[in-house]
Amino acid sequence: MSNPVIEARELTQVYPVKQGLFRPPAQLQAVNKVSFSVEAGRTLAVVGESGCGKSTLARMATLIETPTSGALTLDGLDAVNPPASERKRLRRTVQFVFQNPYGSLNPRKKIGTILEEPLKINTDLSAADRTEKARAMMAKVGLRPEHYARYPHMFSGGQRQRIAIARALILSPKLVVADEPVSALDISIQAQVLNLLADLQDELKLAYLFISHDLSVVRHIAHDVMVMYLGNAIEHGPKERIYARPLHPYTQALLASTPRVDAGKRERIVLRGELPSPLNPPKGCVFSTRCPYVTERCRAERPEKREVDGRQVACHYAEDFLAKAA
Ligand SMILES: Nc1ncnc2c1ncn2[C@@H]1O[C@H](COP(=O)(O)OP(=O)(O)OP(=O)(O)O)[C@@H](O)[C@H]1O
Ligand code: SF4
Ligand SMILES: [Mg+2]
Repeated sequence: MSNPVIEARELTQVYPVKQGLFRPPAQLQAVNKVSFSVEAGRTLAVVGESGCGKSTLARMATLIETPTSGALTLDGLDAVNPPASERKRLRRTVQFVFQNPYGSLNPRKKIGTILEEPLKINTDLSAADRTEKARAMMAKVGLRPEHYARYPHMFSGGQRQRIAIARALILSPKLVVADEPVSALDISIQAQVLNLLADLQDELKLAYLFISHDLSVVRHIAHDVMVMYLGNAIEHGPKERIYARPLHPYTQALLASTPRVDAGKRERIVLRGELPSPLNPPKGCVFSTRCPYVTERCRAERPEKREVDGRQVACHYAEDFLAKAA
């Protein structure tokens, strides 16, 4: 097994939230002791409802935010307290692709300039070499040579996301963090961009941290899946295991709400009730206020994450669900 490109241990982000003039700020646990790793050529999909902490995780993984606690290494380097001499290398290890290809590209710059800028800042390449590299990257992501001198508004959403991907790859990162990279695109275009990301991963041995609220989007691109709820990873493991036999009731509910061909065999769990406020999470199991199988034990005692049937799961009754499914 190769060394992981990214490794997170008990990664935690807590935001202070103002509560008026005379009260101390409340502590919002956006990400709570999340651990994972991704190797070269592999994709970890992070999935969950709005507000579960996906983007917070992405901001920590891309060094935009420092975690409140926990350990993070990128390509073997400490990313929380990096040695000054390694900061530059660290920054080049990881790149970000955002959800919104409209907002993330400077409308006043031509595509060629957008792609060459990171090279100008970070390398000693000559202007001619930068142009050559930008053109080669454009070809790799399926843009045509004449696109070089055009502006972002002249492109469709799918093409703009190709530009954003090209920009992310121009400095040869090892890890790409993609936060909902296709959710703003039409379904037919989504598949093209997902295929492009998969091809690029094969060719360049990239590690992906791929964020989505939709399990059906990540089904083909993911190797591993981590399902989050209120800042906690509640089920995490190989894709095949999780899609074939989800053990956490929340994963079951997410999968049941995803259209699929063989849905008939599976018991349908419908998510009911409101998502609790992350400022006031349930005391026991984080899912206990919405879980159809909730017991007194669930309300009192937070389940520890443990290995069941080849994946990590945080539910008191995971073994029972497994026995029932068999
Ligand atoms: N800078 C901040 N200050 C205070 N709270 C924050 C901050 N950033 C995020 N949060 C809170 O942290 C929690 C997690 O937010 P995050 O944006 O990571 O969720 P998400 O899973 O990406 O959601 P979405 O699917 O809507 O993008 C939310 O409750 C959010 O309100
Ligand atoms: S621990 Fe209880 S409340 Fe939590 S998911 Fe399992 S059955 Fe549901
Ligand atoms: Mg988000």
